[in-house]
Amino acid sequence: MSKSKLSAVPIANSLDDLRNVVNGWKAGGKSVMLVPTMGALHEGHLSLVRIARRKADRVVVSIFVNPAQFAPHEDFQEYPREFEGDAAKLAGEQVDLIYAPKPDVMYAPGASTTVQVEALSSQLCGISRPHFFGGVATIVTKLLIQCAPDMAIFGEKDYQQLLVIRALVRDLSLPVEICAGPIIRDKNGLALSSRNAYLTPEQRRTAPMLNRMMLRAADRITEGADISAVLQHTRSELLKSGFDKIDYLEIHDAETLAPVANKITSPARLFAAAWLGQTRLIDNIAL
Ligand code: PAJ
Repeated sequence: MSKSKLSAVPIANSLDDLRNVVNGWKAGGKSVMLVPTMGALHEGHLSLVRIARRKADRVVVSIFVNPAQFAPHEDFQEYPREFEGDAAKLAGEQVDLIYAPKPDVMYAPGASTTVQVEALSSQLCGISRPHFFGGVATIVTKLLIQCAPDMAIFGEKDYQQLLVIRALVRDLSLPVEICAGPIIRDKNGLALSSRNAYLTPEQRRTAPMLNRMMLRAADRITEGADISAVLQHTRSELLKSGFDKIDYLEIHDAETLAPVANKITSPARLFAAAWLGQTRLIDNIAL
């Protein structure tokens, strides 16, 4: 076990260290919540930590930039790594343990077992990032088995990811309760994301248009306007406002992710993924 220079939070880098601490808590009857992250922490992550703090006796935050959820052409190398700053933020939230596993703890040499959640991974981000949910499902399954928390929490910012994780927990009978936290946004509506750090000043001015136009589209749809006409109009408005490419702007069932083409008959959400230069933004809102 080590401690960061700036932080009072103990840090486990090995599986033995993690398990020793968590087993000790459990033997003392304490409930444990895991908050999985890839670091570069912002208020979105910290909001999950605060919910965890309220719900559980002990809070573990994992920080691991997971190579398996990045395709070779994606931003694994550039992804922001700010461990000392993250540790200081987590100390401010009275986190009990940081789990920062070394890469070989997560991927032992020769590792070839993966977890795939077939149904939910074939929509939305699964189409534009076909490697992504397999990488997420595998690492989250591993984190849940390693830490064996009573609860784990994920943000609705990555709504499809949240559904994939709920599905793998159900399908593999993992003994953990999955909790969700609402999307935390800038005052201008932009959903917070570690990747927002990539945006140029000009892109930062354009980025909030995504949420603004999604809200406008959602209003028109709930007022009864034709869904495909509204979505088509919103796509072209986004491109006009400076977005370079739209991976999707679609309505899907909030539980099954089945596409909704004409009529909303059960809880549904509007989902979007759009590019500003090299940066891909995602967002979703309830209808
Ligand atoms: P990361 O992008 O670091 O996000 C960690 C958690 O914070 C996720 O549950 C994500 O949904 C949540 N989060 C991010 N931005 C948020 C916001 N603006 N409001 C609310 N919650 C937000 O998601 C991952 O890491 C990885 O895929 C991971 C699950 C850790 C597996 O590697």
